[in-house]
Amino acid sequence: MASFLKVTLFGSSNSKATAFTPATDIPSLAGRTILITGGAGDLGRAAAISLAAHGLPAHIIIADLPRDSAAQETALSAIRSALPAAAQESVKLSFLDLDLGSLDAVADAARRFREVAPEGRLDLLVLNAGIMPVKAGTTRDGYEVAFGVNYLGHALLARLLLPMMVETQKVQGDVRVVVVASEGHSMAPKGGVVFEKVKGDCKDMTYFRRYGQSKVALIGLAKTLAAEYPQLKIAAVHPGRIATGLGKTLAQDSKLIRYTGFLAKYMTTTLDLGVLNHLWAAVSPDVQSGFYYIPVGILDKKTIIEKDTTLAGRLKEWTDNELKGRY
Ligand SMILES: NC(=O)c1ccc[n+]([C@@H]2O[C@H](COP(=O)([O-])OP(=O)(O)OC[C@H]3O[C@@H](n4cnc5c(N)ncnc54)[C@H](OP(=O)(O)O)[C@@H]3O)[C@@H](O)[C@H]2O)c1
Repeated sequence: MASFLKVTLFGSSNSKATAFTPATDIPSLAGRTILITGGAGDLGRAAAISLAAHGLPAHIIIADLPRDSAAQETALSAIRSALPAAAQESVKLSFLDLDLGSLDAVADAARRFREVAPEGRLDLLVLNAGIMPVKAGTTRDGYEVAFGVNYLGHALLARLLLPMMVETQKVQGDVRVVVVASEGHSMAPKGGVVFEKVKGDCKDMTYFRRYGQSKVALIGLAKTLAAEYPQLKIAAVHPGRIATGLGKTLAQDSKLIRYTGFLAKYMTTTLDLGVLNHLWAAVSPDVQSGFYYIPVGILDKKTIIEKDTTLAGRLKEWTDNELKGRY
């Protein structure tokens, strides 16, 4: 509870934030293909809008929970209608059905990505989708649901798309993965990830410990993938605290969050500010691969992934074992 209150009340310190202005700091992304998971959600949509408006990439693919074609079009037009005319005309927007809560569905999405993006390249992958479920539960494959959706589904998606990204890097040198973690990593259980329990519902943990555990694993994912793919830039970010769909879902299931909801406006920032760390990690030349950043562009080496030098390796070993035969 103490870690939950500390994060809720004080959050990460960002007094030394890097100045980042999307209109002038996002360079030309001409010709590039970008995939954003959770791109129909608030931060994902805000990232898509800024990257499209200021970088004019060739193609942005929004990957989010499956929906019918009318609902897909609604999600895409929420982005398109926020763009200036030049971006509306030149940036192709597509929707890719993706359910991170099923490893088979993730594999299917990676296969369909090649149909949705026949250009056969991927320059930027933003692993942004995320959930913070109050009720304990498991994914279709039996993993704790926050861990399965936030971490394991993303780990498989990245594994399946990285070979294409490596090929893209040979043509266009700056290829990246942005892993959206959270300051909530500090609410994880002792040890960061309880490997013996994540194949199960972890119902003896509070929901914020389960969320924290999934975010520790995402910071570990950035570290291990960066070591394996030195030709790419792979960094984890915390966006800040923003009133988004995540909080609305949380409020539905948590009395505490509902009763304290009136305080949210004093504790949250705007979407425009909240998306800056995503954007910074997507384009800044200053990103150091393998590390976790708090807003904006502040290197944070105080996570358990940095402190316990064996954790990222144990996470990779566990993950390779669980995903064996899938990539
Ligand atoms: N907001 C904050 O203060 C904050 C702070 C720290 C970190 N973050 C992180 O920022 C990221 C973006 O969250 P957000 O704040 O923008 O919340 P959001 O508006 O709820 O967006 C999350 C998106 O992920 C999608 N999603 C949920 N389950 C999925 C699944 N199984 N497969 C594929 N997509 C799925 C959601 O789809 P539906 O809407 O259809 O469910 C939604 O579009 C998350 O990783 C979150 O943990 C947010």
